[in-house]
Amino acid sequence: MSSNHPLDQLYRQVIMDHYKNPRNRGVLEGTNVDVNMNNPTCGDRIHLTMKVEDGKVADVKFEGEGCSISMSSASMMTQAIKGKTVEEALRLAHIFSDMIQGKEYDDSVDLGDIEALQGVSKFPARIKCATLAWKALEKGLHNHEHEGR
Ligand code: FES
Repeated sequence: MSSNHPLDQLYRQVIMDHYKNPRNRGVLEGTNVDVNMNNPTCGDRIHLTMKVEDGKVADVKFEGEGCSISMSSASMMTQAIKGKTVEEALRLAHIFSDMIQGKEYDDSVDLGDIEALQGVSKFPARIKCATLAWKALEKGLHNHEHEGR
């Protein structure tokens, strides 16, 4: 009954898998959403590019430098939103934000791998790591909506 491993072992494996084998890594050409974001506390960064067409995230890629939590979260985020509508993607971002702050969250949506980050809510210093990619997503989609495509 050791509590040396604050994050559940299985969740750790999911996180490390996304860190080592990131999904959707790279930069998309000719996109209509292009966002750079830093975590001001450590200087780590993400560059998110998306192609939004007919109200859907037709394609998405990210690149950046950061800790395992930030980069795995970015990988999970891109995996989760690809092919989703803008509304669904924003809803996921809200659910993620609640989950990562340790609040009650809407569990009617299947979060898949994203749930592996749930334990981060117990480590306030790491919450900004986990939310970096999602903040970039929200910023990108809001900019896109306001620019009217
Ligand atoms: Fe910089 Fe996690 S330590 S994003």
